[in-house]
Amino acid sequence: MKAIEKKEKTGLVTGAASGLGFELAKLLAEDGFDLILADVDAEKLQIAKNKIAAEYSCEIQLIVKDLSRSNVAEQIFQAIEDRPVDVLINNAGFGIFGSFNDTEWQREMDMLNLHVMTTTHLTKLVLKGMVARGSGKILNMSSLAAFQPGPLMSLYYASKAYILSFSEAIANELKGTGVTVTCLCPGQTNTCFQEVVSNGTSSSDNKISFNVACPKKVAKYGYDAMQKGKVVAIPGNINKFLSKLPRFVSRSTATAVIRKIQERNRES
Ligand SMILES: NC(=O)c1ccc[n+]([C@@H]2O[C@H](COP(=O)([O-])OP(=O)(O)OC[C@H]3O[C@@H](n4cnc5c(N)ncnc54)[C@H](OP(=O)(O)O)[C@@H]3O)[C@@H](O)[C@H]2O)c1
Repeated sequence: MKAIEKKEKTGLVTGAASGLGFELAKLLAEDGFDLILADVDAEKLQIAKNKIAAEYSCEIQLIVKDLSRSNVAEQIFQAIEDRPVDVLINNAGFGIFGSFNDTEWQREMDMLNLHVMTTTHLTKLVLKGMVARGSGKILNMSSLAAFQPGPLMSLYYASKAYILSFSEAIANELKGTGVTVTCLCPGQTNTCFQEVVSNGTSSSDNKISFNVACPKKVAKYGYDAMQKGKVVAIPGNINKFLSKLPRFVSRSTATAVIRKIQERNRES
């Protein structure tokens, strides 16, 4: 068994068991970070840990929690005790498809708690130490969905808009402190996300297969942007163009376009 040498820097990633979170955790490990990985499924998280440990020599602490529960950020903060966090990646998230009138409130509340409350609270708790030390990086996972309303995924789009607005605002407040905040806004990416969005309410296949990105590439783009302290990171030229759509057409037209896309993409 190879010896694990303790590193001087630690990265905390939520939703690290799969998809973009897993890729971001690997990039941290490659960059010489010890890891704290949080996710809801113990078995999946252990598998992710084993894969990372097979490639990189770093200390990996696992935190198994449902991050949509109230006060979970406080529990994570307690679980890591006094360990300084040098990089925080608020990545965990999921989507819900359907007309707001028909969707299930409990699941929506969970999503809002996860995207809004846990992201915000964890940022607040970790930020204090970063500012006191005069260094730190935060990467918040938003989406291309942040740039206009999204009929048939209304709360997902709205919650991602919150993450973008919150990240941009605190990035500005933190200028000169040594702490940077980056908001990553990917378009469709090939992860388990699309299956979760469908969740029985629509066909589980994503019908629009155009412009679907590879999670490794998206994670690398976001990771590099975070290292450079870029505030908003949109991977891919088509996505950069799409993020500006509401500037070229009226907001109501952009909203109608998204509705058409959602209908084509997910309705069975
Ligand atoms: N893929 C895309 O097209 C896309 C585009 C733009 C933005 N994003 C964002 O990227 C982030 C990562 O998603 P992904 O695409 O990598 O999807 P993913 O493969 O489904 O990964 C999300 C991870 O977060 C975990 N998670 C979900 N709910 C959780 C909870 N309540 N507590 C703890 N962990 C939880 C999931 O665990 P389980 O699987 O066990 O539930 C999973 O391991 C999300 O914030 C998503 O909104 C994705």
